[in-house]
Order: sequence, then C-alpha cells, then structure tokens
Amino acid sequence: MGAGIAQVAARAGYEVVMRDVAQEFLSRGMTAIDKSLQRDVDKDRLSTDEKGAILARIRTTTDVGAVSDAFIVVEAATEDLKIKSEVFRTLDEVTQPDAILASNTSSISITKLGAVTRRPDKVIGMHFMNPVPVMKLVEVIRGAATSDETYGRTRTLAEKLGKMPLECQDSPGFISNRVLMPMINEAICALYEGVATRESIDGIMRLGMNHPMGPLALADFIGLDVCLAIMNVLHDGFGDSKYRPCPLLKRYVDAGWLGKKTGRGFYEY
Ligand SMILES: NC(=O)c1ccc[n+]([C@@H]2O[C@H](COP(=O)([O-])OP(=O)(O)OC[C@H]3O[C@@H](n4cnc5c(N)ncnc54)[C@H](O)[C@@H]3O)[C@@H](O)[C@H]2O)c1
Repeated sequence: MGAGIAQVAARAGYEVVMRDVAQEFLSRGMTAIDKSLQRDVDKDRLSTDEKGAILARIRTTTDVGAVSDAFIVVEAATEDLKIKSEVFRTLDEVTQPDAILASNTSSISITKLGAVTRRPDKVIGMHFMNPVPVMKLVEVIRGAATSDETYGRTRTLAEKLGKMPLECQDSPGFISNRVLMPMINEAICALYEGVATRESIDGIMRLGMNHPMGPLALADFIGLDVCLAIMNVLHDGFGDSKYRPCPLLKRYVDAGWLGKKTGRGFYEY
C-alpha cells in the first residue's frame, strides 16, 4: 500500500520520501511501482520520459529523519496498534509542528493514534484502497480531535492525487471495512461449513451481485492477516459476537497462508 501511495503522489508531481524498516521492502516497493508504471507505458497512457520523471521523484530510505521536511506523512505500516503508535510517536518528534500525520490504517482508531502525539488536531485517517493507482476512493477519517483545517488540507491533497475523498467519523472499521469485512468473514464461514466450494461462493457473488471479485479472492488479495486484524478490531470495538472472526480464517493465518503475498490463501498463486 505504501508503494501505491508513493506512486500516485509522485505521479501527481509531489517529491516523495518512501521509508521502510529494511532495504529489501523498499526494493520490493520500487519494483512494484516500476511494473505498474510500465503497464501504463505499454498502453500508451504514459511516456517513457514521464515514467522516468515519476520514479526520480521517489527517494527511498530506512532513516525516519528523512521525512523531517514533509508537509504530510502518510503512514502505511503493518496493521498493528503497537507498531503504529510507535511510528506516530517518532513522527511527532521528527516532523515540522504543522505537518499532518495521516494513517492508511484499515481499522485502527485515529483518535488513539492522535493521542500518542502532541498534535492530535493534525492526525487524520487517509484510507486508500487497493490497488492504490486504480481505486478512486480515499476514505477520510476524523479522529475526536482532528481539526477542520486538517480535514480540509487532507481533502484537497486527495483531490490533487486524482481521488474522491469521502468523510467518515472514527468508529471501528470506519465504513468501508465495517461493511466489507463481515461479508468476507461470512463467505469464509460458508466455506468452513461446506455450504459451497470456493469457486461457487466467489462465482455467486460475482455473477449474482455484480462484484468484480468474489469475497474469497478479495480476501487473498487484501491479505488474510489484514482481514483477521480488522475482524478483531470490529469484534473488540463493538463487543458484538456477530463480528467473531471465522475459525478457518484464524487457521489459515496460523499456517502462514496469507493469500496472494505468500503464494497461498483460499487459492494458490
Ligand atoms: N492490503 C490492503 O488491501 C489494504 C488496503 C487499505 C489499507 N491497508 C492498510 O495499509 C497498511 C499496510 O498494509 P499492507 O497490506 O501494505 O501491509 P504489508 O504488510 O504488505 O506492508 C507493511 C509494510 O510496513 C513496513 N513496516 C513495518 N513496521 C514499520 C515501521 N515501524 N516503519 C515503517 N515501515 C514499517 C513493513 O516492513 C512492510 O513493508 C495497513 O495499515 C493496512 O491495514 C491495506
């Protein structure tokens, strides 16, 4: 997701610093960006020179201090409150006091992330969809302390990136995953109970509901660890058993079958 966000920002003309904890993840991200832009070159939607210029606007680093001049930082680290809290604490130290600190989290409370900083008014959710270069939506989430000014600046940035920002309040799963993830979880439960095969479940939802992808294929694409983390946030946040993660989802995550990124999930890749 971080690579996708860096790509759309650089394509919109912004200078981007892409930071990760190790060089291998940065290299993987740059390869993904290169491939995605090359597809546009092959389809005559981008010139080779433009592709080169976009890539040249992205600088990679493992040094968090390299983002010190940024007017906005979009955090897209692993979906884990402890990791994200630590990232926000550090960003609060190293960035300019008026910089916006945004999170691409799928479900973690923006209010909680804001509370670990000295600028909760400048902390906001900027939830891009996957794949970032293709999907139009940015769900913009306001924490309890997010100011109108921060919201306005974030909205404007999303529009400059060619996206459609839609606002929602900070609540478990926001809107996107509160509605999407229980559907995916239910599809996994139906598979677990042997109600239908994976092909039938996905086919019924594609052909019957006009979804571009079936829920099991979509879960593999999102990452089963991410799906489980989101179900846990819904379950804990609402305290309602209707959000209980399906045992089969837990079993796959325990086995390391995380979907497309590990070569195996509900399908093999
Ligand atoms: N996968 C999706 O479809 C999707 C969609 C929307 C939002 N998101 C959200 O985007 C975020 C990232 O998801 P992803 O699927 O790209 O996960 P991922 O596991 O593929 O990537 C996470 C990256 O964060 C890096 N990271 C870990 N700790 C870090 C730290 N302290 N500082 C900097 N980088 C760190 C990891 O090395 C890794 O490269 C999560 O919050 C997730 O919920 C994911």
